[in-house]
Amino acid sequence: MNAFGTLFRVALFGESHGPRVGTIVDGCPAGLRLDPTDLLPDLARRRGGAIGTTARVEADLPEIESGVHRGRTTGAPILIAFANGDARPEAYAEAAKIPRPGHADWAARLRHRGFNDPRGGGHFSGRLTVGLVAAGAIAKKLLAPAEVHARLLEAGGRSDFEAAAAEAVAARDSIGGVVECRATGISPGLGEPFFDGVEAGVAHALFSIPGVKGVEFGAGFAGARMRGSAYNDAILDASGRTETNRAGGLNGGLTNGNEIVVRLAVRPAASIGVPQRSVNLETGTPAAIVTIGRHDPCIALRVPVIAEAAVAVALADYALMACASRRAVGGYGGE
Ligand SMILES: Cc1cc2nc3c(=O)[nH]c(=O)nc-3n(C[C@H](O)[C@H](O)[C@H](O)COP(=O)(O)O)c2cc1C
Repeated sequence: MNAFGTLFRVALFGESHGPRVGTIVDGCPAGLRLDPTDLLPDLARRRGGAIGTTARVEADLPEIESGVHRGRTTGAPILIAFANGDARPEAYAEAAKIPRPGHADWAARLRHRGFNDPRGGGHFSGRLTVGLVAAGAIAKKLLAPAEVHARLLEAGGRSDFEAAAAEAVAARDSIGGVVECRATGISPGLGEPFFDGVEAGVAHALFSIPGVKGVEFGAGFAGARMRGSAYNDAILDASGRTETNRAGGLNGGLTNGNEIVVRLAVRPAASIGVPQRSVNLETGTPAAIVTIGRHDPCIALRVPVIAEAAVAVALADYALMACASRRAVGGYGGE
């Protein structure tokens, strides 16, 4: 189902070219100060408009419709909605017949027996991440003073990613990128047994971002080519501080008090202005497709703040689970 988390539970609703998109955050403790303006800085970082991103520009003004009273969370579900002010649903009548290679168009049609909303990817669109960013801003408030920051490391395999994006735009093509996210000040000892370790939860949240195709923690795949003597992080003191951080702040699925470091691979967008081979699903005949119009030639440029949100949402959930588990000892079944 479309919800993530156990105690801090985030659902996303809407479609790219429907009237509204947004989030319902359930399980946020009561009493947290929350004003719509708190969400604006992160929402602005996600917005398109820069070179290499979509020309579709939404105001992204959050409407908090429930769960907040007199500037504080009430403990009830928080519903935050965003109007799709710059939607153009009429532009997708033809496109719905010819699925974009590499996009979710064909698989979504199959999975939902043709009842899916195909306009601009419908519920599979990157537009849905506006709700995730809003939920992430709440999660960051819960985690404070811990901080979560992400940045783009490379795009199109290059560190001069703005030039790489401009070249992709000129070629009517798209490029991917690598984003790194770091969480500092997270308490040690978060994480649940075996299946619900922090790597699993954080990766789950990150892989939910449309276009994310790889996730690695700490040294990640490079660690597979190292010896233990080179890989292991020397422990410097009783606080668990380590000299290096190849584990990315996680051992045994538990936070170890060091910085959590995770990188994600973001694919190049499916919608490009270069002709691609597809099929007309109404006639069953081969069809060429060229995506004209508004899309993100470099999705990765917009992903850092979305990655922060995914990581913050997952960590807030683990933080609440740790609190609940500590409270239970002695109260409900402890000695
Ligand atoms: C912020 C954001 C914007 C996106 N914009 C586009 C886009 O303009 N064109 C496109 O083809 N894909 C775009 N995507 C990616 C698609 O939504 C994604 O590739 C698609 O749903 C298929 O999922 P997958 O790549 O994870 O398999 C965007 C993703 C994000 C996070």
